[in-house]
Amino acid sequence: MPVSKIDRSEILNWLRENDETRLAVLWRWADRVRRENVGDDVHLRGLIEISNYCARHCAYCGISLHSRELARYRMAAEEILDCVRQAVDFGYGTVVLQSGEDYGCSTEWIAALVRRIKNETPLAVTLSLGERPEEDLMAWRDAGADRYLLRFETSNRRLYESIHPPLAGRVSDRIFILKRIKQLGYEVGSGVMIGIPGQTYSDLARDIETFKELDLDMIGIGPFIPHPNTPLAVDTGMVSDQQVPATELMAYKVLALTRIMCPRANIPSTTALATLNKVEGRELGLARGANIVMPNLTPPAYRILYEIYPDKACIYEDREDCDTGLRGRITALGRRIGAGRGDSLNRAK
Ligand code: 5AD
Repeated sequence: MPVSKIDRSEILNWLRENDETRLAVLWRWADRVRRENVGDDVHLRGLIEISNYCARHCAYCGISLHSRELARYRMAAEEILDCVRQAVDFGYGTVVLQSGEDYGCSTEWIAALVRRIKNETPLAVTLSLGERPEEDLMAWRDAGADRYLLRFETSNRRLYESIHPPLAGRVSDRIFILKRIKQLGYEVGSGVMIGIPGQTYSDLARDIETFKELDLDMIGIGPFIPHPNTPLAVDTGMVSDQQVPATELMAYKVLALTRIMCPRANIPSTTALATLNKVEGRELGLARGANIVMPNLTPPAYRILYEIYPDKACIYEDREDCDTGLRGRITALGRRIGAGRGDSLNRAK
């Protein structure tokens, strides 16, 4: 079987495939491509959810402005640095600083935070702070940030616009921003949700092709999980045979096809997968193409306020349990915990 040549009609056939025996072929194919291209190392990225303030009205997200009653927090720099030191102690190579699109985290405040992490630790720093203006992205890159994550969520422009109202007077064009992020020298991460109401199979096939076109270093894929405080909580009654179901199985298919299309990308087994299948979602993700896990380092009191979707996995675990649990799951699969920063081999090619 060819390693990374797979055309639109083949992608569509796999997305519609439901026969377990044939799907087993896809799982083995993705697992082989993963092993041959990024090896058996699973890199751990410590996730710190630094603020749940958000300026946006994204129709699916539990920390958007739709959640009017949600208590909002912004971690102090010292609290964040405590979590960063924890990442070093746990032996992680990367911290991911994630937040809503929070303009209360000023350009300079984030830049100073990045400089401190880079001066005081050997860690790679990934930022995931939303659609910030180019000056911010430049300042943070100058401060030493290594990577930036911004999912484009769907390549269907109409669907995208219907779920991402822009800020007043601005356009929201994440594909454009991703290209700029790459030009600024960041490793670039993106991804999509699977099963957004209104998302079709051809949309999803185009999403996977877009990953390749953007030459992404990191690709996050998770099922859409309705959040009760958001407009997308109500069942839209989309029952067309074109509608992609928001299932665990569909997320694995997209994960596996993404590995085959983008062999050297870093692909996490996401928390959203672990949420739909708490018993073995992480493992199945790792066995079907993923090579990254992102243990949550956010202090528990804040973690419960960062419910972008309900019943999020690990939300009540402390960070030691989260770390120990994930290590056990990884080694039980016969995989190794990756040493070092786990930089993108796609970028190094
Ligand atoms: N279900 C699944 N994933 C979600 N995200 C946000 N809200 C949801 C939801 N309701 C994902 C988006 C975002 C990432 C941080 O979390 O893809 O980019």
